[in-house]
Amino acid sequence: MTADILKQKMADLSAKVTSMPPQEALALLAQEFEGKIILSTSFSWEDQVISHMVLSQNLPIKIFTLDTGRLFGETYYVWSRTNEMYNTHIEAFYPNATLLEEFVTEKGPNAFYDSVENRKSCCYIRKVEPLQRALSGNELWITGLRAEHSPERSDLPMIEFDETNSIIKFHPLLHWSTDDLRAFINQNGIPYNTLHDKGFVSIGCAPCTRAIMPGDDFRAGRWWWEDKTSKECGLHAHS
Ligand code: ADX
Ligand code: SF4
Repeated sequence: MTADILKQKMADLSAKVTSMPPQEALALLAQEFEGKIILSTSFSWEDQVISHMVLSQNLPIKIFTLDTGRLFGETYYVWSRTNEMYNTHIEAFYPNATLLEEFVTEKGPNAFYDSVENRKSCCYIRKVEPLQRALSGNELWITGLRAEHSPERSDLPMIEFDETNSIIKFHPLLHWSTDDLRAFINQNGIPYNTLHDKGFVSIGCAPCTRAIMPGDDFRAGRWWWEDKTSKECGLHAHS
C-alpha cells in the first residue's frame, strides 16, 4: 500500500479506534491490517500490558524486540518469563554485526559516554537500523508510548503516520496513568520488569538508564549525563 492509501485508511479508522477500549481497538486493527501489524516491546510495563492484550486474545499481531546487547539482566528475565507464560516466541532483532564490530573496535565499548555523536551512532547501530528491518513490509506499528513520559509525548495523537518509516503508529495506552498500568498488571498477574519497583520508570540499555527521584521527568534517568535537548535515540522521531 502506498503512503497516501495508508494515510487515508488511518483517517477512516481514527475516530473508531481512539474511542474504543485498547483491547477492542487492537482486535479491530489486527483484522484490518492482517499480516502487516506488529508490536515493538522493550518489556516495559506498558509493553507488557499491550503484549498481554495481544497474547491473551490470541490476536494475529507479531511481537518483536530490539536486543541491543546491552539490556539489563532483569529485562532478559521478563522476556523469558513472557515466552514461557504465554507459550510464545517474541521475535528478536539484532544489530548488524559488521557495523557493530567496526564501531566498538574503533571507539571502544562505552563510547556513548564520550560524546552525543558517539551515543547517537551507538543507538543507530543497536536500535534504529534493526528497527528499520523489523518494520519493513508492515503497515501498522504498535508502541507503548504514553503522554505522561515527557512533554514531547504529551501532545501525540493516539494514531499517527510516521513519515520516517512510512508506517501508521498506534499508541493504545497513550492516556493511561502509571497507576492504571500497575492496577492492570496486578489484576492480570502479568510478569513485569522488577526494576520498575526500584525507581526505574523508563528502562532502556543498562549503561544508559538509571533510577529517577520522585518528581523527576519520567525520562530523566535516560542518558542522564547529556543535555536535555539531545534525549532521543531515534526510534520515535518526535520524542
Ligand atoms: S526510547 O525512544 O526511549 O528508546 P522508550 O523506552 O520510551 O523508547 O519506549 C517507547 C516504546 O518504544 C516502547 O513502548 C516500545 O514500543 C518501543 N521500544 C523501545 N525500546 C525498544 C526495544 N529495545 N525493542 C523494541 N521496542 C522498543
Ligand atoms: Fe548504545 Fe546506550 Fe543507545 Fe543502548 S541506549 S544503543 S547502549 S547509546
